[in-house]
Amino acid sequence: MLQTHTSISELGGQEGKAVTLRGWVYHKRDIGKIRFLVIRDGSGYAQGVVVRKEVAPEVFDLADTLTQESSFEMQGVVRKEPRAPGGYEIGVTALKTFHIAAEYPISPKEHGVEFLMDNRHLWLRSSMQHAVLKIRSEVAMGCRDFFDQRGYVLIDSPILTPAACEGTSTLFETDYFGEKAYLSQSGQLYLEPACMAFGKVYCFGPTFRAEKSKTRRHLTEFWMIEPEVAFADLSDVMQLAEDFIMSLVERVLSRRREELKTLERDISRLEAVGRPFPRMTYDDAAAKLKEAGAEFEWGSDFGAPDETILSNLHPSPLMVTHYPANIKAFYMQPDEQRPDRALCVDVLAPEGYGEIIGGSQRIHDHDLLLKRIQEHNLPVSAFQWYLDIRKYGTVPHGGFGMGIERAVTWLCGIHHLRETIPYPRTLGRLYP
Ligand code: 4AD
Ligand code: MG
Repeated sequence: MLQTHTSISELGGQEGKAVTLRGWVYHKRDIGKIRFLVIRDGSGYAQGVVVRKEVAPEVFDLADTLTQESSFEMQGVVRKEPRAPGGYEIGVTALKTFHIAAEYPISPKEHGVEFLMDNRHLWLRSSMQHAVLKIRSEVAMGCRDFFDQRGYVLIDSPILTPAACEGTSTLFETDYFGEKAYLSQSGQLYLEPACMAFGKVYCFGPTFRAEKSKTRRHLTEFWMIEPEVAFADLSDVMQLAEDFIMSLVERVLSRRREELKTLERDISRLEAVGRPFPRMTYDDAAAKLKEAGAEFEWGSDFGAPDETILSNLHPSPLMVTHYPANIKAFYMQPDEQRPDRALCVDVLAPEGYGEIIGGSQRIHDHDLLLKRIQEHNLPVSAFQWYLDIRKYGTVPHGGFGMGIERAVTWLCGIHHLRETIPYPRTLGRLYP
């Protein structure tokens, strides 16, 4: 049985007690007849102090053999030491090695991103990466808790699907026993029937898009959380998105302050996020872009530079609605007053981060939906089941999807979303 040691995160309140810690050498310093061993165990960092005249000679010699990332055990007495990483120090009495590590390829010096990504399996141990992925984990739990506490039922949507949800240009195709299958771009089409069965539902899983562009906002495999609600219109969807984002900001601020500090995140920018989020139509946004001198052309979707301009306008996320229907997905409900506009919303994170949420009210009329499927040249037979929902007690409904990597990139205040997923998949990266 190996699980008899103390976790570094539990050292608080144990001053004066003898403990056993197990972990890896994060850092080592030799000063005369003292060895400082910083140990990390995934829960935190602590400093072991090995003093030559206080330990058996073989313990001191063993300290000398430990290389960076060697796995080992230290025993000793806990002392508070505000200057030590983690705030605690162990007066070491005994050491044991599990494995002496080979020369570790990642050093504090600057490495290129490609090198670090090739060594992603090791880079995960670095303090910044560690902080980002702990925040990701917190956000994932925050997503589940938010919907669970509001009575939403988790409905896992399939990954292998017979048809496109978000347009055919970014589909990954695979062979399914001689038939064509596609990796899911979104669970939405499967959630719509489920909300007619359960009222309020959500899914949370990996989604896939064959994005051929190399940008700091695109992965080919990313995780999306998607709620879907029966008897909901666009304003209900927007209210839900606002409540949801607020809950994530508050959760990360209250539970992951240490990690935000490690990342040198400007916490005041997150604290400035507040209700109500600013709202504007696509037309208003287009006018703002014109004012700002952007190259944007009315009628097209916002490009990355446009999103950056818009999402720098306010300290809180910006909700943009009523895009031209022809640049949005086939399933969006048209505005009654202006049928060329979709009842949709994109939420742009502040500080230039851009779109983190896309959502809409869905078409609930059978014949209109059939017309849209045909206009988009989608195979009607593959969508028969989806059309069926409009035949048996159809109601206005809607929902949204948030890519959690986009949200985590913003919350962490980092530049590129590839660090917010443990093993990123992008154009040109399938390793490790
Ligand atoms: O705006 P999108 O395409 O919307 C949908 O997929 C809807 N079916 C969701 C729904 O209504 N249930 O994607 C939703 C979000 C985006 O706002 C973005 O956060 C993320 O998914 N996303 C990506 N994240 C990383 N890499 C990519 N290539 C992404 N594409 C979309
Ligand atoms: Mg979108």
